[in-house]
Amino acid sequence: MQKIINASILNADFANLKDQIDQAVSAGVDWIHLDIMDGHFAPNLSMGPGIVKTCRSLTTLPMDAHLMITNPNTFIPIFAEVGVDLISVHIENNALIYRTLQNIKDQGCKAGIVLNPGTPADAIASVMDIVDLVLVMSVDPGFGGQKFIRSVLPKINQIREMIAAQNRDIHLQVDGGVDVNTLPALLKAGADSFVIGSAIFRNPAGIDEAIHQLKQLLV
Ligand code: DX5
Ligand code: ZN
Repeated sequence: MQKIINASILNADFANLKDQIDQAVSAGVDWIHLDIMDGHFAPNLSMGPGIVKTCRSLTTLPMDAHLMITNPNTFIPIFAEVGVDLISVHIENNALIYRTLQNIKDQGCKAGIVLNPGTPADAIASVMDIVDLVLVMSVDPGFGGQKFIRSVLPKINQIREMIAAQNRDIHLQVDGGVDVNTLPALLKAGADSFVIGSAIFRNPAGIDEAIHQLKQLLV
C-alpha cells in the first residue's frame, strides 16, 4: 500500500494558510488532515466547516476530517458537504459506532475509526469489516507538538494483523508526534499513513525541506 504523508494543518500559520498549504502540496504531501475539536471530547477548540471549505478550495488532494467531537453524527453531513474525502470518528465516544460509520458512508465519504493511546486494539475488532482506515493516536487528542507515546507501537503491530485478516485495503494511520525520529519505528510496526503537523509546519528547516526529509524515510 502507498505510504502517505498526511499534513495536519492544526499547527500551521493560519495567517498564511493558503501559502502554507501551497508549500506543502508543492513539496509533495499526499493528503491534508483536518483536526476538528469542540472542547468537549478533546480539551481544545480548533476549526469548523468554514476553514475546511477554504482548504477544499486550495487543493484537490484527499482531505480527511478527524472528528474529536461529541455528537459526530450532527457534523458528518456538514463536513461531507464541504468536500472532505474521509471522516474518522473515535471509538471512545460512539456507543452506536456502526450507525455512525454507516452514516459517513451514506454521505459518500470513506470511514475511519480512531483509538486513543489508552484504548486497546480489540475495541475496534467489531468494525473492521466496514472501515476504510484505522487511526491510532500516538498522543492524547487536543494539541499539536506533543511527545510521541512509544507504547502504541505494539498496538500498531496488532492492528496490522487485524487488517491483514480482512483481506482488503484499509489504511493504518498514526497521528501525534510523528517526525523523522519516530517515523522509522512506525513504518516497522506496520503503519502506512502518517499524520504530521508540527514536524512540517513548525519545522525550522521550512516546510519544503521538512517534507523532503520525511519522504526520504519512505522510499
Ligand atoms: C491531536 C492532533 C495532532 C495533530 C498532529 O489532537 O490530532 O496529533 O494532528 O500533531 P503533531 O504532528 O504536531 O504532533
Ligand atoms: Zn488528527
